Amino acid sequence: FDVKWDAVAAEKGGYEHFMLKEIHEQPKALRDTMLGRLKDGSVVLEEVDLTLEQLARINKVYIVACGTAWHAGLVGKTLIERWAHLPVEVDIASEFRYRGPIIDDHTLVIVISQSGETADTLAALREAKNRGARVVAVTNVVGSTVSREAHDVIFTWAGPEIAVASTKAYITQLEGMVMLGLYLAQVKGTLPQEKIGEIITALKLIPEQAQEVLNQEDLIKELAQSFVKVEDAFFIGRSLDWAVAMEGALKLKEISYIHAEAYAAGELKHGTLALVTEETPVIALATQRDVYDKTISNVKEVKARDARVIGLTYKGNTNMAKSVDHVIYVPETIDELAPLLTVIPLQLLSYYVSVARGCDVDKPRNLAKSVTVE
Ligand code: G6P
Repeated sequence: FDVKWDAVAAEKGGYEHFMLKEIHEQPKALRDTMLGRLKDGSVVLEEVDLTLEQLARINKVYIVACGTAWHAGLVGKTLIERWAHLPVEVDIASEFRYRGPIIDDHTLVIVISQSGETADTLAALREAKNRGARVVAVTNVVGSTVSREAHDVIFTWAGPEIAVASTKAYITQLEGMVMLGLYLAQVKGTLPQEKIGEIITALKLIPEQAQEVLNQEDLIKELAQSFVKVEDAFFIGRSLDWAVAMEGALKLKEISYIHAEAYAAGELKHGTLALVTEETPVIALATQRDVYDKTISNVKEVKARDARVIGLTYKGNTNMAKSVDHVIYVPETIDELAPLLTVIPLQLLSYYVSVARGCDVDKPRNLAKSVTVE
């Protein structure tokens, strides 16, 4: 009787790939990241110390990051502008320093980095500090360079992420953006306490709702089979749905080598619609209630070109199914938290497409987990 011990298989905890394991760890990562930070209807961020006086000086916010973390920043922009009434620009770290951003001691710079070691993000952080900005880091690695050099830190408690394509780190970065947005609003007094309480109550439900989304894995696996021979795909949405669409497209590109593009749904007709032909898969995210009807008219535009459309919306929506070929449903939440749920089916879709195409899921060609050169 010979038992073969495979250390890597053991680390995968019964999953075929680290990515799938990490996708499934998201409810726990979300729970761990909010632990101790939501108390009595308000947000407590121990490693962030921004007083009302300091925040009163801030007239501009930059969010700087690379890759998936940059996509989390795009969500952060909307949340901070909406809740804390501060103007926010989101920059790709490798572009930030070279475009001459206006930074001084009235600037708040938020850097987001899973590893806390990405060279461009680190360089942006240093430049911002040199020019007098206050720097808040959102990172997953305690002791990382970014966490040591920033003035304030929000740790995401996703645990070690092994797969190159980021999943659980992204979802906790989104959660970090939600908590930071609420924190800034709380200190500045830009949201009524009651509203903050409502958002916190909805946020506490997210880990359980994320699990509900994961329970639809078989359905998504089935949908993925129709992508095996596809060479192009589009992801569309408006507002926060657009930000998540970008992450969905990146996941598909990274691990299944399918050319995927995310487009603001309303912008499609200004050029890209020419590329949509019969059977082109279009994944349409439609959760944001304020732009829902507009998104649906854009969905009809692609449907009119015979595209194959997969919709993504809240459970209980009986309307979207009439305009698309398939619908994936996520539990209902407040719109600002929808990205925490809608990204999960997109991760699963990319994962199963990658497996079906026989790609190296955890170590996609040409890519590295942490990029320490500029
Ligand atoms: C690499 C990884 C991406 C990641 C990006 C930023 O390109 O492959 O998954 O989003 O770096 O990494 P960071 O550690 O700064 O979040």
